[in-house]
Amino acid sequence: MKDPRILDSLTHGMYVLTANGGGCVVDAVSQISIGDHPLVSVAVMKKNYTNELIKKNGTFALSILGTNTDSSVIPTFGFKSMRETNKFEKADVTQILGLNVIKGALGYLICEKVDEIDNDTHTLFIGRVVECDVTNAGEPMSYGYYREHKEELTKVKTESGKTAWVCTVCGYVYYGDELPADYVCPICGVGADLFEKKSDD
Ligand SMILES: Cc1cc2nc3c(=O)[nH]c(=O)nc-3n(C[C@H](O)[C@H](O)[C@H](O)COP(=O)(O)O)c2cc1C
Repeated sequence: MKDPRILDSLTHGMYVLTANGGGCVVDAVSQISIGDHPLVSVAVMKKNYTNELIKKNGTFALSILGTNTDSSVIPTFGFKSMRETNKFEKADVTQILGLNVIKGALGYLICEKVDEIDNDTHTLFIGRVVECDVTNAGEPMSYGYYREHKEELTKVKTESGKTAWVCTVCGYVYYGDELPADYVCPICGVGADLFEKKSDD
């Protein structure tokens, strides 16, 4: 591939995808059809716990993030797995048709899974929108906006005495004096060369 950076020009939004028992940040969402109950697709990494939950339960919700939504949901749902932390302890959510949605989001879609397509790293889930609503006014957050503002949105600050290495692609933070040369970002898969060092000034 001559220059894969062109993939960054595909425009995506920012969402919290929730399923019964978990959830994660996603940007890979598209609308597939129109009508009363349109179809949407979401690509979810096979290694994500949320993937298991959607396969098991057959329903999912998408909370649409705005530039005015409390951005702490991004590190909470995007940088850790529900396998290691209860994300809902830190999130302000409400239940719609049995699924958690983010209160401060612009709105939500509740979907019933109608199909799933296994690809190499991701499962493409296709869902029919069975309920949706606008819950707050604001501008939808694009993935481009997130990338431009990720430092302030994910509030990357070095804790006293700690060095942080920040992934310049997705914003994930690794704490440690040295970043191993063969380190691979657990969120977006890029190598150590795309991490930037931040230390206390
Ligand atoms: C900006 C951003 C965008 C992301 N987009 C996706 C995505 O489209 N699909 C996906 O599967 N994971 C995506 N992730 C990664 C998941 O949110 C992350 O792996 C999460 O920790 C998985 O949690 P879980 O194991 O509890 O499901 C994204 C993360 C960030 C920070």
